[in-house]
Amino acid sequence: MDKGPGDKSNHHFPPGFLWGVATSAHQVEGGCINQWSAWEEKGRIKSGDRVGLACDWWHSAEKDFDLAQQLGVNALRLSLEWSRIEPEEGRWDSAAVARYRAMLQALRARRIRPFVTLHHFTNPLWFEDQGAFRSARSVQLFERFTRYVVDELGDLCSDWTTFNEPNVYAALGYFLGEFPPGRKGRFLQAAQVTRNLCLAHAATYRTIHSLQPDANVGWAQHFVAFKPRRRKSAIDRWLTAFVDRRFNDNFAESVLSGRAPFPLSKFGVRLDEVKDTCDYIGINYYSRLRAGLALSSPRTMFFQLTVPPHKPQGDSGIEIPYGEAYPKGLRRAAKRFAAFNKPVYILENGVPDREDRIRPWLLKAEVKQMRKLLAAGVDLRGYFHWSLTDNFEWNEGWHLRFGLYELNPATQLRIPRPSAQLYAQIIRESRNGWSG
Ligand code: BGC
Repeated sequence: MDKGPGDKSNHHFPPGFLWGVATSAHQVEGGCINQWSAWEEKGRIKSGDRVGLACDWWHSAEKDFDLAQQLGVNALRLSLEWSRIEPEEGRWDSAAVARYRAMLQALRARRIRPFVTLHHFTNPLWFEDQGAFRSARSVQLFERFTRYVVDELGDLCSDWTTFNEPNVYAALGYFLGEFPPGRKGRFLQAAQVTRNLCLAHAATYRTIHSLQPDANVGWAQHFVAFKPRRRKSAIDRWLTAFVDRRFNDNFAESVLSGRAPFPLSKFGVRLDEVKDTCDYIGINYYSRLRAGLALSSPRTMFFQLTVPPHKPQGDSGIEIPYGEAYPKGLRRAAKRFAAFNKPVYILENGVPDREDRIRPWLLKAEVKQMRKLLAAGVDLRGYFHWSLTDNFEWNEGWHLRFGLYELNPATQLRIPRPSAQLYAQIIRESRNGWSG
């Protein structure tokens, strides 16, 4: 309820605030050939699904851009598939670049500002075969890819996200074994990967600015709101603090202070060139998880993440819960990165919810949290909902559904969920000083 101008929840969204939707190439384009398609070939997608055409963006992204335009969004986050643009080392595919040009032009024609992610989890196979970001060469190879892309597409876009969730990429690929290359418990490899991601990010940041001095460059940091499973257990509290720091501060800390990722930092390694290489803070926030010791779970390194059954949550993953829907975590995330003193974009936020049971509530609650952030003086510039339509959810395949629109992957039919209407209304009314 609107309680008047003194009510902190009644803060208006500033003019020019970006209301967007977010996606990534592999999840929507269909037909990408990368380490994730190889993972799928090996039968590693837990749902057994195939990505197939995904949302068929390679042929008809424009149809979804029309849907996005109908919602009233003025921004859309998408990623470029490196394996299409450089299918073999040093060979550039001009047809792929032409397709991306067409997509960016189509967005601009609809007055939708493109936010382009350069790396969203996927690698070309030739790069993966060289050890991907474990290899020291990765920094130079990624920087070269970026230079090519910004040369080719820089007239159409100046908002860049270098890496999507480097903390997730390193943790799930090298510590939990949930993402390719499926390594488990390789603490040092994960640190080495994070180090190279930091260096690649910093090199890329400088390259983009050398080509486009006014570019807006950052990365997308995944934040999980952790809480001890048993408040009275010292070990759970310690574990929670440990995982919170190692996961949520991973990467961000290097950009903030030039410290190398843990445990390299303990050996006095520094990454001074990484310090101060962002123009904004990009936050991907979804959920809260309780962390605790579980001696019966060697598979998960004796560590368990749970959600109490009475807490609101979307649909569960095949083996693990997705997390508690906890809107206040958004503010916690923004607070966590306040020391950067940079503009903030929520680059992803959403919930897996096939029946749209809690998404409408969550959307409204997150909007409320954003107004509180604005009232507290946070320079919040935009919000990107994940996602416009259901898309291919990595290991969960088509099992988890994040779309404002329901997608039938076989027929490619889209049906709006009630949340689509609601999001359109939120956007419309925010522009008229919404007080709902
Ligand atoms: C990733 C997306 C993913 C989403 C929903 C984020 O961590 O960036 O690719 O689909 O979460 O799980």
